[in-house]
Amino acid sequence: MPGVLPVGEPVPAEGSLPASARVSVGARGFGVYVHVPFCASRCGYCDFNTYTADELGAGASREGYVDAVLTELTLAARVLRDAPPPRVDTVFVGGGTPTLLPTGDLARILDAIDRTWGLAAEAEVTTEANPESVTPASLKELRAAGYTRISLGMQSAAPGVLAVLDRRHSAGRATAAALEARDAGFDHVNLDLIYGTPGERAEDFAASLEQVVAAGVDHVSAYALIVEDGTRLAARMRRGELPYPDEDVAADRYLAAESVLDAAGFSWYEVSNWARTVAARCRHNLLYWTGGDWWGLGPGAHSHVGGVRWWNVRHPATYAGRLGAGESPGQAREVLTGTEAHMEDVMLRLRLAAGLPLDALTDAGRLGAARALAAGLLAESAHAAGRAVLTLRGRLLADAVVRDLLP
Ligand SMILES: C[S@@+](CC[C@H](N)C(=O)[O-])C[C@H]1O[C@@H](n2cnc3c(N)ncnc32)[C@H](O)[C@@H]1O
Ligand code: SF4
Repeated sequence: MPGVLPVGEPVPAEGSLPASARVSVGARGFGVYVHVPFCASRCGYCDFNTYTADELGAGASREGYVDAVLTELTLAARVLRDAPPPRVDTVFVGGGTPTLLPTGDLARILDAIDRTWGLAAEAEVTTEANPESVTPASLKELRAAGYTRISLGMQSAAPGVLAVLDRRHSAGRATAAALEARDAGFDHVNLDLIYGTPGERAEDFAASLEQVVAAGVDHVSAYALIVEDGTRLAARMRRGELPYPDEDVAADRYLAAESVLDAAGFSWYEVSNWARTVAARCRHNLLYWTGGDWWGLGPGAHSHVGGVRWWNVRHPATYAGRLGAGESPGQAREVLTGTEAHMEDVMLRLRLAAGLPLDALTDAGRLGAARALAAGLLAESAHAAGRAVLTLRGRLLADAVVRDLLP
């Protein structure tokens, strides 16, 4: 959830969508995202839309939160009532820290989504979790409630790095939680890593990778540390207390991740994501990256249905207030033009190992692709004719390659 929302046109009070958006709902899959905007404390690097108990203020509470989300779900069902009934392929409960809510609340959310639209038989149902916010018992309850996948924020195995990132858990707690999740019967378990934190040594990141592999998870996300404006980390760097991340170090870390994870049987399927099998790939994120439809419930959540994209008001109290008044919590929306939809599609698909169909590019874009092929940043897909895939060097320079394909 990025820190700043774009401007757009107003969302009608009843949340209705143009008829053109309703006709094709779910044609490329339908997912539901649920944002849970609570954290026990704020990590110094994070600018997600999340609130500690002290920051929440009047008008919103963790206790009343699920009722507000279920009110938005009722509104969503009303908005899509004339559309082809969507079957929910994926649910992703993210945050914030969803597992700060009682397990019964997370079960109620899933149950309500199922009763509203129907979960597909093989639906992927993910919750994010902080390692210190789950126990063997709570994991078993989540599994019994229908959650099939869990994504744990590990970030690093090095105590010094966790301290710079202001994480609350010990170095070993994330991998212990991953093992507990496997014991609880989760089909898929992800660990998130952050690399390039000031003070992180090559051997620290090597230890993080080694521990992730030893935990037996089937999915790993690894992100370069982004210094977000307005965070405590950014302020510390501005004051000179910590050095800014170094791009060459980040590239070295990425190459280390690819080498260790590949040797351990993982394959990259998106620039920052590796999975042991095709079934272990995060289908919800793939839906985002391949133009699927999703409804995002919760404050600050983004939705995309039939070419219309909208985002909700950010503060939980404003969100609850809008819904309490019988109004949509949508803050603003955009109807994507053909050119915008094309640009987004190229940007997202280029990052996938499945590659980008070259005939999706304009003539100028194809010339850019030819230059990137000649420079060894792109290669022709070994699996599908007419598709270009980033090479390992191209993955390090993905943003620059995209600029060349969208002149
Ligand atoms: C909502 S958080 C994950 C769930 C949980 N709140 C936690 O932190 O354990 C999603 C992930 O985004 C990544 N992330 C958040 N802020 C980041 C930043 N500034 N730079 C790089 N990665 C970031 C972290 O890896 C984090 O695990
Ligand atoms: S726990 Fe996760 S969502 Fe909360 S502040 Fe930390 S990184 Fe952000």
